Amino acid sequence: QLGLKTKKLGCTIYYVESIDSTQKLAHSLVQDGCPEGTIVVAEEQLNGRGRLARTWFSPKYSGIWMSVILRPTLPPKMSPQFTLIAAIAVVQAIAENTTLHPEIKWPNDILINGKKVSGILTELQADSDKVHAIIIGIGINVNQKQFPDELKQIATSLFIESGKETKRSHLIQAILEKIETYYQIYMEKGFAPLKLLWESYAVSIGKDIIAHTLNGDIIGKAIGITDEGVLKLEDQDEKVHLIYSADIEIQS
Ligand code: BTN
Repeated sequence: QLGLKTKKLGCTIYYVESIDSTQKLAHSLVQDGCPEGTIVVAEEQLNGRGRLARTWFSPKYSGIWMSVILRPTLPPKMSPQFTLIAAIAVVQAIAENTTLHPEIKWPNDILINGKKVSGILTELQADSDKVHAIIIGIGINVNQKQFPDELKQIATSLFIESGKETKRSHLIQAILEKIETYYQIYMEKGFAPLKLLWESYAVSIGKDIIAHTLNGDIIGKAIGITDEGVLKLEDQDEKVHLIYSADIEIQS
């Protein structure tokens, strides 16, 4: 197990060569009662899922396509904070294993030089007041040498940015150890102690942005996140909007 220094995360690993989506397998493992910390890792996904019903390009042997199952006792409305916790872990793991300095674009994109290198998809199994499981899906473009034309402008890999191959097992180990650490802090003290850390990696904070929400666009400056991980956007009239879910466009 890679010398993995975790207590729970990665104690049960489902490693598969090819799968439709690690999230889908993780959902059925949850239903079969798998323990907290179970992870699913695939070499390739044939139908990788992104946020907002997008597909996630997951070619063989070149990236990390992984789902992490947690079973916290929490109300479902806390689940978006797990995306932010995972993003901190991914950014730090990349920074420690490469010469690169990734940044977080709220809520779930990890960027290098403005292009997406990683995305996080947090899904839930819950009833109205209680979480049964949180499934954190993490996709990282690690050793891809190039991307299909339709993705070239928006996507990149650690290899393209650094010119070097990165060992995926080292990254996975670092990510699991960090998620475990931050998960423990979160369960003991909530998100507040992690907020400054998250903001220190965030690209969108302090910038003029457009938030594309289901109820229309809101234009303003991203001024930070709340203790719950909700984005705060200040418009021209200095009115602060709380953004729970949106696609963010950063104005240059
Ligand atoms: C996004 O940026 O839209 C989120 C992308 C999440 C992709 C990962 S890859 C592993 C896991 N399995 C999936 O089908 N999706 C997530």
